[in-house]
Amino acid sequence: MSRVAIYPGSFDPFTFGHLDIIERGSKVFDKMVVAVAYNVSKNTTFSIEERVEIIDEVFKDNDRVEVDSFKGLLVDYAKSKGTNIVLRGMRSVSDFEYEMQMAHANKSLDPGLETVFMVTSRKYSHISSSLIREIVSLGGSAGDLVPEVVEKKLKQKLQN
Ligand code: PNS
Repeated sequence: MSRVAIYPGSFDPFTFGHLDIIERGSKVFDKMVVAVAYNVSKNTTFSIEERVEIIDEVFKDNDRVEVDSFKGLLVDYAKSKGTNIVLRGMRSVSDFEYEMQMAHANKSLDPGLETVFMVTSRKYSHISSSLIREIVSLGGSAGDLVPEVVEKKLKQKLQN
């Protein structure tokens, strides 16, 4: 049986922390679906199409990683992809409360859904998308925090 895990998120932007979880998740699951969520309440830097395009570029040579987007509930999306596994990364205890709340909410929406957590590698545990946006918008370098394509697109967006 092929094990597919959904790795959902906002990815605004995609960081080395996300990449770390996907690479390690790929050692546990047969296929990873990176699912970019439409989030009506969030004012994002990149459109959903831009985020999918950027992440697609990162994984263009990896056929075990699919990049997709979804609207609506994660539990419904997971079902549509034929899986009941959601993978999330946890950077610190401050992530824990939010992640636990989401895992419980998803479990009550679909008792068959399992959320699997992976602790983000120490060297990426300080990275957050908001911090990166701030650094780049103030002219700093995010080369150690995000893939090259992401830094390039961020500079185009935030420094012009
Ligand atoms: O990267 P983020 O912003 O922490 O990701 C949050 C995300 C997209 C995984 C979460 O907001 C989500 O699953 N949204 C889809 C809507 C949904 O299913 N909500 C109910 C469960 S929280």
